[in-house]
Amino acid sequence: MSENKKEIVLSGIRSTGNLHIGNYFGALKKFVAIQDDYDCNFFIADLHALTTNPSPEDLHKNVKTILAEYLAAGLDPEKSTIFIQSDVPEIAEMYLLLNMHVGIGELMRTTSFKDKARKCLGISTTDESDEDIEKQIIGTDTNKRVNAGLLTYPTLMAVDILIQKATKVPVGKDQLQHLELTRRFARRFNSFYGVDLFPEPTDFDWGCAPIKVPGLDGSGKMGKSEGNCIYLADDPKVLRKKVMRAVTDEGPQAPNSAMSEPIANLFCLLELASTPETVAQFRQAYADCSIRYGDLKKQLAEDLLAITVPIRERINDILADDDYLRKVVSRGAERARERAAATLAEVRQVMGIRKF
Ligand code: TYM
Repeated sequence: MSENKKEIVLSGIRSTGNLHIGNYFGALKKFVAIQDDYDCNFFIADLHALTTNPSPEDLHKNVKTILAEYLAAGLDPEKSTIFIQSDVPEIAEMYLLLNMHVGIGELMRTTSFKDKARKCLGISTTDESDEDIEKQIIGTDTNKRVNAGLLTYPTLMAVDILIQKATKVPVGKDQLQHLELTRRFARRFNSFYGVDLFPEPTDFDWGCAPIKVPGLDGSGKMGKSEGNCIYLADDPKVLRKKVMRAVTDEGPQAPNSAMSEPIANLFCLLELASTPETVAQFRQAYADCSIRYGDLKKQLAEDLLAITVPIRERINDILADDDYLRKVVSRGAERARERAAATLAEVRQVMGIRKF
């Protein structure tokens, strides 16, 4: 395939703090793996991070952190376009334009919006019906508001993808609903204006289902707001402590018994970090009831450290090199803006925003 015929890949990560191993196994590791074969575009979603109202200092610090972690994990600016979302102002303009074709109802029904709205309103259970949440959103006082940026989060994500005309979007399982909405918005725009402007992007096909990396607290996914993360930048001592404290159960009570969720989660992490032989050995020990969870955790911690320690060491070196970081993102912004400006010009033309 010639250089300019490579398929366009795009993905991003919000700048909300250090990257955890959910981000790594669900996204970043895959970004690194495909750099040679695709037209790769990876960015730091700082505008998306604004939906949770970080302090200006935190926002800025977190962008730099993610950038250093991208590079430390192996993203190569010679192979991929690496940029900061807010460095491409065309995205903000197209976000406004695309919003004219997006329904409030479909945005309110997205799982991520309902989860985030619940958090803003301090609702801890998922028992409340959609109508109850809607009533609370509308009736709430201004201190507990659910901001409009949270609602239109999927529009902004769709624009990130469509403005680069990306066709492949490597993401973890939690982002698939947003990708589905992106396809819907692309179809709707094309059909409303009778054009073939946007390709419909799909998840990257790895030959296996997109993953959800679990947390160490026994249920649910690993996530910053869940407070159950192992970070790429964790000190080895901290990482070991976190893994050794992971929730378990009383052990298998009979041969070949089903696994409880916390144990299945530990095996899921082991499969991501360890060799197939190690996984098979612990599976056998679980099946014949000889397993000692302490041994499993020790092995898991060491296998995770074999992955995170080299990255952690590079993060610190890269963070100290401001000149290099500046060069990477200014070159990235230049490249990303080129395609974004071309797409935006087409969108304006198609929608009738034309010069006299
Ligand atoms: P974000 O910042 O929440 O997560 C970044 C990436 O990490 C993946 N991920 C996980 N994968 C598996 N298991 C987990 N526990 C886990 N936690 C996070 C996410 O699926 C994601 O791939 N909206 C996006 C950022 C974004 C974006 C885009 C992505 C903005 N615009 C355009 C792709 C294309 C987000 O909040 O990801």
